[in-house]
Amino acid sequence: MKRVVSCFYLWLFLQLPLIGSSIQVKYKVEEEQPPNVLIGSLTADYGYPDSKHLYKLEVGHPYLRVDGKTGDIYTTESAIDRENLIGCQYLYPGEPCYLEFEVSITDMMSPVPRVLDGQIEVLDINDNTPNFASPVLTLSIPENTNIGMLFPIPAATDRDSEKNGVASYELIVGPEAHELFGLQVAEDQDEKQPQLIVMGSLDREQRDSYDLTIKVQDGGKTPRASSALLHISILDTNDNAPKFEKMAYEAVLPENSPMGHSVLQVKANDSDQGANAEIDYAFYQASDTVRRLLYLERLTGLITVQGPIDREDFGTIRFSVVAKDKGPNPKSAHTQVTITIRDTNDNKPTIDIRGFGLVTHQDGVANVSEDVPVETPVALIQVSDIDEGKNAAVTCVLLKQVSDTGTDSKKKYFLQTKTPLDYESVKEYTIEIVAVDSGNPPLSSTNSLKVQVTDVNDNAPIFTQSLMEVTFKENNLPDEIVMVVSASDADSGSNAQIAYSILADLTTRGIFSMNPDSGQIRVNTVLDREVTEQYNFHVVAADKGTPSLKGTASVVITVLDCNDNEPKFMLDGYNFSVMENMPRLSPVGMVTVKDADKGENARIHLSVEPESAEFVIQNGTGIILSNISFDREHQSTYTFRLKAVDGGDPPRSSYVGVTINVLDENYNAPVIVVPSNISYAYLPPSTDPGTKINKVRAEDMDMGLNAQLDYRIASGNPFDLFQITPTEGEVTLEKQILRKHYGLHRLVVKVKDQGKPSRHGTALVHFFINETLTNQTYVETLLGHSLDTPLDIDIAGDPEY
Ligand SMILES: *[C@@H]1O[C@H](CO)[C@@H](O)[C@H](O)[C@H]1NC(C)=O
Ligand SMILES: *[C@@H]1O[C@H](CO)[C@@H](O)[C@H](O)[C@H]1NC(C)=O
Ligand SMILES: *[C@@H]1O[C@H](CO)[C@@H](O)[C@H](O)[C@H]1NC(C)=O
Ligand SMILES: *[C@@H]1O[C@H](CO)[C@@H](O)[C@H](O)[C@H]1NC(C)=O
Ligand SMILES: *[C@@H]1O[C@H](CO)[C@@H](O)[C@H](O)[C@H]1NC(C)=O
Ligand SMILES: *[C@@H]1O[C@H](CO)[C@@H](O)[C@H](O)[C@H]1NC(C)=O
Ligand SMILES: *[C@@H]1O[C@H](CO)[C@@H](O)[C@H](O)[C@H]1NC(C)=O
Ligand SMILES: *[C@@H]1O[C@H](CO)[C@@H](O)[C@H](O)[C@H]1NC(C)=O
Repeated sequence: MKRVVSCFYLWLFLQLPLIGSSIQVKYKVEEEQPPNVLIGSLTADYGYPDSKHLYKLEVGHPYLRVDGKTGDIYTTESAIDRENLIGCQYLYPGEPCYLEFEVSITDMMSPVPRVLDGQIEVLDINDNTPNFASPVLTLSIPENTNIGMLFPIPAATDRDSEKNGVASYELIVGPEAHELFGLQVAEDQDEKQPQLIVMGSLDREQRDSYDLTIKVQDGGKTPRASSALLHISILDTNDNAPKFEKMAYEAVLPENSPMGHSVLQVKANDSDQGANAEIDYAFYQASDTVRRLLYLERLTGLITVQGPIDREDFGTIRFSVVAKDKGPNPKSAHTQVTITIRDTNDNKPTIDIRGFGLVTHQDGVANVSEDVPVETPVALIQVSDIDEGKNAAVTCVLLKQVSDTGTDSKKKYFLQTKTPLDYESVKEYTIEIVAVDSGNPPLSSTNSLKVQVTDVNDNAPIFTQSLMEVTFKENNLPDEIVMVVSASDADSGSNAQIAYSILADLTTRGIFSMNPDSGQIRVNTVLDREVTEQYNFHVVAADKGTPSLKGTASVVITVLDCNDNEPKFMLDGYNFSVMENMPRLSPVGMVTVKDADKGENARIHLSVEPESAEFVIQNGTGIILSNISFDREHQSTYTFRLKAVDGGDPPRSSYVGVTINVLDENYNAPVIVVPSNISYAYLPPSTDPGTKINKVRAEDMDMGLNAQLDYRIASGNPFDLFQITPTEGEVTLEKQILRKHYGLHRLVVKVKDQGKPSRHGTALVHFFINETLTNQTYVETLLGHSLDTPLDIDIAGDPEY
């Protein structure tokens, strides 16, 4: 996505609030300090936060270093040399020299850093020695010069400022010239002008030159000094000196004036005649720069442009011009020229886009995590214009001016997000910044920044289905693939790389394994449906982001049956007994068959082998029916096999042997199941007649009539208090209970079958009648007594009553 951000479109996506702090940080430091000298502490001096913040020097390299935690500012290996610092090289004496810096302060809790600007005033030290322009200075003095005449000596210069600058001159004169020359220093606009004063009469015929020494010393604490040879030539008498029309000349020169453009004309006149009045103009004490930019016509004094005039290099040009006549002993005069350069709008605004604090930029690209909050700054934009006045006033009408720092020509903004970013929808933005100055015509410039949105792991993997069901046949080969699951992740890179796993679970542990990369689920063992028919577990898809996000889904594996189990008879062999003369198609016995398989594989078909018409078996119930009437005298045993076949493909079968014995008598007596001889039932006297109070149950192992039972009370019922139903054996109370009935009763119950001969069993049925049952021990004593008492003696209530 490409978006042009200019004054007018800025608010669509981004905003550039102006930043800065109202405190202007100012420090002072002397130049040429060794490394690691503390210049100042932002926390201690200006109360900036002293913990959980990151301080970072943005502007001020390589001279400064800022401690990230404390905001302390130190000097570095790169010593600050005031005389070589950009911006301080062309200062005039007395102007302060500033080193500007910028520090960002990032709050670890909030992504929006503060940016603060500061200035360090670099104090001069005496690190430069005053020097004369040349080691040999020449001065020509006419003979017979009046005593007291002054002759300017070319001044020395010192790159240091003010008090470290040139302070004093000293003339060292040998004995031969001691009475002839002296030194006087004139002060003009803070500049010291040494002048030689003639103190005696000079006679060229006697001596035509003198060599003196002039020494210059600066005002530093430890003064520095140097000297030059001052060679004085004595000339023949000569005439008047030229004189400039003005003491000083001033002019205004538009920047970028063309070559040959005339700036001003200096003019001196000489009251002499002839060659003595012909004047030659020359630069005097003018820097190389002045000589490069301006041309001074020797004869006319016209100054024209001969080099590019750039106000951004020099705002004013100052120099002196000397006018010298052409007499045999030339005389000269000096004037000062000051040219002020008027700005033209020849510089476009500069847009500097950079990272700051924890935001780093590389090759014009900023990486911004998609999860940053709205209004997170992604760049610091500094718009500046090195022109002057209106030509440097950078405007952007829609930008809100937030703070009071920053000048018209230098403003700082944050480029910050206006809406949440989403890597999944837009991965990259190109932002173009347009800045316009207020010149006429205005100049504009553009710069652009690429913002790359970096992915954050904000999407969890999602399985194609939340519930995945598969069927899988038992008796598999180990390592067979059961299924393949798959999940997708909307992120990218490692945030979208998925590792699959099975959620640890006791019931499935070790049985299934998952390929983390492919999502294949394999079975490690041989499955047996007869042991486990269904497996339920969860699968997890975890992406490789940090922290990792997970998605889960349920897996249901239903094990399909194979016909791997035979039908199984519950007994290894069956032995049934039948009675003679049973009706045809009577049941003679029953077998039970089970098959551990399922469905058709467990559907069992039973048959008699060898097939005959004598016996048949019912498929569902396993009941064997006879299709003959038995006659023991004819055949007393029948043996055959039963075959069970399941419905599988192929089917499985098993066999069991059956023996049927034909009986001719009532073989078994009825067996009493309940009640036990030693039990009793408690009857409260209030029991209503007709109430069922107990039940005798018996079983007979025989068949037919031999197993049909008849229940009778044989004795122990002298009051006819009780009755029993003949077929069911249910005992009921027949009469109202009276006082005489209190105590233990013993009914002797006979259970007979209908066999011929009939067989029977005997049951003792005890009742204890009393208002309450408080002393069981007593009742048990009575019971014990009852068991020792012959059956023909009645035990029925209170014998003493
Ligand atoms: C020299 O300059 C002075 C003052 O400007 C003027 O009075 C005089 O006439 C000039 N002389 C010549 C020869 O131009
Ligand atoms: C931005 O991310 C790219 C790729 O992820 C990386 O190569 C580059 O160094 C990063 N740039 C910055 C400034 O962190
Ligand atoms: C089957 O029962 C008969 C009659 O009670 C008996 O004689 C025979 O030994 C029994 N056979 C088996 C195998 O139990
Ligand atoms: C029973 O036996 C008779 C002949 O004895 C035969 O006709 C009939 O089919 C048989 N019944 C069964 C159910 O086998
Ligand atoms: C038992 O089932 C099979 C087939 O299912 C059938 O052929 C056979 O006649 C059945 N036997 C009986 C006694 O129902
Ligand atoms: C119960 O008592 C009767 C009669 O004395 C006796 O025949 C029978 O065997 C006894 N029952 C038990 C299980 O002892
Ligand atoms: C019979 O009932 C009476 C009166 O409630 C009581 O005192 C006595 O202990 C009872 N006998 C037994 C054996 O519980
Ligand atoms: C219960 O009866 C026994 C036997 O008759 C007797 O020894 C005992 O004292 C009685 N107990 C109570 C609490 O009446």
